[in-house]
Amino acid sequence: AKPIRLALLGCGTVGTEVVRLLHDQADDLTARIGAPLELVGIAVRRPGRQRGDLPVDPELFTTDALGLIKRDDVDVVIEVVGGIEPARTWLTEALRAGKSVITANKALLAEDGGALHDAAAEGNADLYYEASVAGAIPLLRPLRESLHGDRVTAVTGIVNGTTNFILSSMASTGAGFNEALEEATELGYAEADPTADVEGFDAAAKAAILASLAFHTRVTAADVFREGMTGVTAGDMASAKEMGCTIKLLCIAQRGADSVSVRVHPAMIPLTHPLAGVGDAFNAVFVETEAAGPLMFYGRGAGGRPTASAVLGDIVAAARNKLTGTRAPSESNYAKLAVRPIGES
Ligand code: NDP
Ligand code: HSE
Repeated sequence: AKPIRLALLGCGTVGTEVVRLLHDQADDLTARIGAPLELVGIAVRRPGRQRGDLPVDPELFTTDALGLIKRDDVDVVIEVVGGIEPARTWLTEALRAGKSVITANKALLAEDGGALHDAAAEGNADLYYEASVAGAIPLLRPLRESLHGDRVTAVTGIVNGTTNFILSSMASTGAGFNEALEEATELGYAEADPTADVEGFDAAAKAAILASLAFHTRVTAADVFREGMTGVTAGDMASAKEMGCTIKLLCIAQRGADSVSVRVHPAMIPLTHPLAGVGDAFNAVFVETEAAGPLMFYGRGAGGRPTASAVLGDIVAAARNKLTGTRAPSESNYAKLAVRPIGES
């Protein structure tokens, strides 16, 4: 069969691992899809940058992302750059032109996911974003597909790896916030600017995506009540411990009769609670439904290779759809539920 042609936007922590997996698994992927995958271009900011021993032709690098997206021979666009613009312009352009889009960009999905879904409907194109929430954990596909015959009532979890590492380290060593953050930075978990993680913006974006999918409505990051974890002190953690508890940054999304509430804040939970044992940079998410009851999803929520695993799963799905002429489940037929302010029942 003729190859499915891929354009990769971004080749940093996640992008380099996508390139490696595409290379290392090439034969298996061809067998699973029924056609080979061909990487035809990689858009970056600095094409000359040293990227280790990446198994890729240096000629593929370009700074012209839009030019790459517009190439007639590109079937699938993979965006692992991040940020609102220019990613929104790129992905809207690709979807309207009927190209499948795979993105890990939770910030963009939480701010303007509705516009992306509308562009996908317009172009009859696939939009997949499994890597945007909880890294490697298969979570969005179950919400988008497996649970569609059920009714999700609540989603509760730890969806930020960096802050979970910091809080777990504070709990186990008695360290203060700054000391734990330093350790997280040294180990490569926290980014150079950890504001989005520690102030809860990253978790709020993920909470908005989860609530939108779980409750079939549109929730944006601005709808989410958000409190970061910079105010949690070593003293708070010690007091929690004395009470047989620990402190975690939780995302809590609940569905009422005709409204939803979504919040992110530090919470004290008993040490016997399953989320209390989630350490390191791991994530865990409880999904409660009317028929299935409670479900729990657990795994690595951050890091290049685990996140690339989720991106690869989406690439396989999009490539198969291209071959068979089918599409990802549509999300342009959302109900509009009111987002309830916290404290209102
Ligand atoms: P990085 O900062 O490591 O990489 C970003 C890449 O984008 C770089 O290759 C950079 O180019 C390129 N880039 C930046 N601006 C432009 C531009 N204007 N035009 C073309 N290329 C550009 O980010 P990550 O890999 O960590 O994250 C990528 C996405 O994945 C983000 O949306 C992030 O939120 C999401 N994500 C990340 C996870 C993680 O653990 N890191 C986990 C889950 C999701 P250059 O290399 O030349 O600088
Ligand atoms: N900074 C994010 C985290 C990356 O620590 O969870 C994964 O989305």
